[in-house]
Amino acid sequence: MDIFEINGGKPLCGSAAVQGSKNSVLPILAASLLGDGCEIENCPALSDVDVALRILRRLGCSAEFKNGVATVAPTGREAVDIPDGLMREMRSSVIFLGAVLARSGEAEIYFPGGCRLGPRPIDMHLDALEKLGVEIETDGGRISCRAHKLRGAQINFDSVSVGATENAMLAAVLAEGETLISNAAREPEIVDLQDFLNKMGACVSGAGSNVIHIKGVRRLHGARHSVIPDRIAAATVLSAAAACGGNVELGRCRPDHMETVLKSLHEMGCELEIKPDSVALKRRGRLKAPRPIVTAAYPGFPTDAQPLLMAAGLTAEGSSVFVENIFENRYAQVPELRRMGADIITSGRVAAIVGVERLIGAEVEAADLRGGAALLIAAMSAEGYSRVAGAKHIDRGYECPEELFGSLGAKIKRKEVKDSERQQKEQTQER
Ligand code: UD1
Repeated sequence: MDIFEINGGKPLCGSAAVQGSKNSVLPILAASLLGDGCEIENCPALSDVDVALRILRRLGCSAEFKNGVATVAPTGREAVDIPDGLMREMRSSVIFLGAVLARSGEAEIYFPGGCRLGPRPIDMHLDALEKLGVEIETDGGRISCRAHKLRGAQINFDSVSVGATENAMLAAVLAEGETLISNAAREPEIVDLQDFLNKMGACVSGAGSNVIHIKGVRRLHGARHSVIPDRIAAATVLSAAAACGGNVELGRCRPDHMETVLKSLHEMGCELEIKPDSVALKRRGRLKAPRPIVTAAYPGFPTDAQPLLMAAGLTAEGSSVFVENIFENRYAQVPELRRMGADIITSGRVAAIVGVERLIGAEVEAADLRGGAALLIAAMSAEGYSRVAGAKHIDRGYECPEELFGSLGAKIKRKEVKDSERQQKEQTQER
């Protein structure tokens, strides 16, 4: 079990490049199941990517990752089941369902795991697949799906879901006839999936708007694609630079994918220099509280960036308000941030922060991916020593955060803590 040890209070200075997008590459890897040889470039080295490659191998592909490129090819052996253990490792495992059905007409999976952000049902995924002609039986945690033939359909989502939109797209590309997805998610990752599918020979249009149109084709071929930059990883570095102070230039990023985040950082008093593929952020003097941050589906403020901006707002002058509209339980970082001296109260979907002069290092534990990143940001900006446990959550979405932030001047180290050492420490604390 790894932890991060941080000696905080150092400004961040220098330049860094943004990794490829986790939320783009996972559905793209699922889509690669449908091709006859795909190369995915700018693929981030993340534990979630590792899980996706293991799922692909289980389904009968060769799947390798080297120097930022994932290579996926069929082996001729076709399996249709994903075991419970793999499904539990990440929420995005469910995205493979649409692709397996498109390829094989049947699938056996289990309910997915992932960050515990409150109830995360998959009813919209299953409803969309049923519309496309899939018969679904659920039994305990198991989901058995059969489709004699996938048929194009009208899918009208009642609310916006990124994953359900992606699953519907993956199943519909090889369905007979046309599919219209309305109230589709508009995230840049959906556009990236459309681009990849079209390179494979699919006929998808409209991604980025709330209506996606798909004309089913008979087969797809292989493709080479470079994944878009990760807008949440970019928001993490910028929030850290805002929290710690300093001067950071972030290259290989897409500022047009992160307008709401940049707006809030600007309101907080950060100086931003925005170019088409880079952002430079300078923070001198104390941050100011931003206008209320209210999360919403894209192009609204991303829920994944809420904990990051919260971490930056802890020492801002004035009171900050956050309203979390996407997930019910996305304030797991709050009790840990309080250990560092943060003044936060939460009530249901709302969190209110009164900015304190400074944070003090503490021993804290990540409970989920972005909440964990928020703890790293707070620890880097706090005075003194912090230990952030639960690195495995953070590793799901960040490539070597200790190297990235270390290169910008943070004093951050990864340390392996043996289970026995941890138990001993806990027992000593209990005494
Ligand atoms: C994706 C992102 C995640 C991000 C989220 C919202 C990936 C790998 N993950 O997650 O980082 O935080 O979008 O931007 O891309 N819902 C249902 N029924 C369903 C599906 C979703 O009620 O069948 C609800 C969810 O509980 C949630 C809301 O819809 O309240 C949005 O979830 P969704 O967009 O599906 O999130 P994910 O695709 O899981």
